[in-house]
Amino acid sequence: MTRMAQRADPSTSAGFRALCDDLGLCFGGDYNPEQWPRSVWNDDVELMVRAGVNLVTVGVFSWAAIEPSPGERAFGWLDDVLDLLHRNGIAVDLATPTASPPPWLGHLHPETLPVDADGVRLVAGSRNQFSPASAVYRSHALAIARDLAERYADHPAVRMWHVGNEYGQLDHGDEAAREFRGWLKRRYGTIERLNDVWGTTVWSQAYRSFDEILPPRRTPYLVNPAQSLDFRRYTSDQLLLCYTEQRDAIRATGARQPITTNFMGFFPHVDYWSWSDEVDVVADDEYPDPASEHAAADIALVQDLMRSLGHGRPWMLMEQTIGAVSWREHNLPKTSGAARLGVLQAVAHGADGVAFFQWRQSHSGAERFHSAMVPHAGADTEVFRGVERLGADLRRLKPVVGHSVEASVGILFGWPSWWAGEEPARPTGRLRTLEQVQRWYRELWRRGVAADVVRPGAELDVYRVVLVPHSYLIEPDTAAALHRAVAAGTRVVIGPFSGVADRNGRILQGRSPVLLHELIGASGEEWTALPEGPTLLQVDEAWDVGAPVAATASVFAERLRSDGAEVLAMFGDGALAGHPAVTRHRFAGGRVWYLGAIVSDALLSAVIDDALQDAGVENALGEAVLPGRPLPVGLEAVRRGSALFLLNHGSEAAQVTLPATMHDLLTNSEVGRAVAVQPGAAMVLIEGLTQ
Ligand code: GLA
Repeated sequence: MTRMAQRADPSTSAGFRALCDDLGLCFGGDYNPEQWPRSVWNDDVELMVRAGVNLVTVGVFSWAAIEPSPGERAFGWLDDVLDLLHRNGIAVDLATPTASPPPWLGHLHPETLPVDADGVRLVAGSRNQFSPASAVYRSHALAIARDLAERYADHPAVRMWHVGNEYGQLDHGDEAAREFRGWLKRRYGTIERLNDVWGTTVWSQAYRSFDEILPPRRTPYLVNPAQSLDFRRYTSDQLLLCYTEQRDAIRATGARQPITTNFMGFFPHVDYWSWSDEVDVVADDEYPDPASEHAAADIALVQDLMRSLGHGRPWMLMEQTIGAVSWREHNLPKTSGAARLGVLQAVAHGADGVAFFQWRQSHSGAERFHSAMVPHAGADTEVFRGVERLGADLRRLKPVVGHSVEASVGILFGWPSWWAGEEPARPTGRLRTLEQVQRWYRELWRRGVAADVVRPGAELDVYRVVLVPHSYLIEPDTAAALHRAVAAGTRVVIGPFSGVADRNGRILQGRSPVLLHELIGASGEEWTALPEGPTLLQVDEAWDVGAPVAATASVFAERLRSDGAEVLAMFGDGALAGHPAVTRHRFAGGRVWYLGAIVSDALLSAVIDDALQDAGVENALGEAVLPGRPLPVGLEAVRRGSALFLLNHGSEAAQVTLPATMHDLLTNSEVGRAVAVQPGAAMVLIEGLTQ
């Protein structure tokens, strides 16, 4: 049961490409026909055809409809749904319904239900009520996955498999304790080794045997951070096992379609770097908050992560919302213009499919107010007319299918570093990894500079610039890759509190960052929270950054000294007065910037400009990046293959000078070199019509 299964099959990874070559960009949504009488199904399919829907996900929450009682199989309705869709030319992404077991499972086998950190066993009545460690849950889930695949592997409608839904369940129960201990034994071999790695001499935590170890349940005071970090790793691995064993059961029936599950962006409980090679196509669910001023840039980062998880291959936006979600406290709707921009944005960042949650708005249940492609009011609505327009837009974009986005900048991000870096009891709880990654990425986004997200340990010399906004854990392989890349000419910018600890969260001993200070040409000796409010920094007058910079630091800083690096900004007052805040250091063929504090946006922007310019990076329009010259506010520019996407998320028309006269795929018309992209508007431009 605990075998780590074979990886995704390369021949089926190509299956998504073949599907899109056949269908064009996939367009559709979650289709839950079991919520509706059959009379509605015909209407559904007619509307799908009208809107150009070509792929729907069926069955995500249909376990009770398929297995009303233990062992029973009620496939008749599903046969009819798949046949109906197929007759109408709509392909199916068929789901294993294992995210929401029927109430009978928990009733008959309470041990299948998850337990939270307080020891409370969660019950049926919602969804996700399963323990990923439960042997009984897993055997029931496997049985239904296998039976579904045996029945439908050769059904002509089925073009993709969708295992479970949004894996992310936490469980601290007794079976989780058993699986966690097994995971620890495999990792450490002996209890002595575990005691050493976890530092259990602190607070008298030494274990005599693995049997004494528990998941990090409620404790009187702070939990050992190494225990917590390993529990997060175990949780991600255990969930992955739930996915891979169903995937392998489907594959074992002879099914040849690509198999996947839906990720959730920067989801905190699953390390997608360890998952992504197990799916045949990376798929993601994305719900940017329309109330956030940074929504467009932040979701672009997520989309670049998805492309990067799949090694640059096209991915699929599996679920998003057409209007408002219903799970926030206050659910601002997307306008239809924003929904369109969101769809085109995903395609710009490498998606070959976009689908929504969900096709028809539910009349009942917890998501009755969540928007859908067909709202309660029916098809005679702005929403549905918008859906029809989206279908038409996507048909026009077939030429981009299969193409990738070339990035000259990489951003380092890893989950264990995020986890370890946010354990409680640090110099400040206000330094948040993802917030820093987002801040740094926005600087690239507003310059129209493409970025990949890079996994720790990967080779970095393929990038002209590598950004390390906040990487609390830097392992020797990543440190070596950074050295090699800089030696080969890559420019690297490293943010504060990086390279602090080893893979187990143990603080490295010596001047910091221990593995990087030669590269940086500066080193630190103390990490410190800063008082409320900005601390003034003095920028070196010789540093040419185009315009004066409002340079301040806040939240967190390090007591640094230069060991040869130029000091670009130093603390002007406070306890660190006279100490460097930002340094720059030539190392072999490259250069390294180090930020020893959380610095103001203006200073961060100047540092990133400096590195991009030094490396000769160009934006999507083919222009060199120059200090202080971002794109017009709100304009996003992305090049995918030979197509240039211009998306105006802002409120003012954006004037752009194109490298040549071009053809807009969306309007099928020629545009001159000077274009104005209206607020909310988009262009997808290619040179000539031959591609
Ligand atoms: C995710 C889930 C769906 C639904 C939506 C609501 O995408 O997979 O089942 O709950 O969120 O936004």
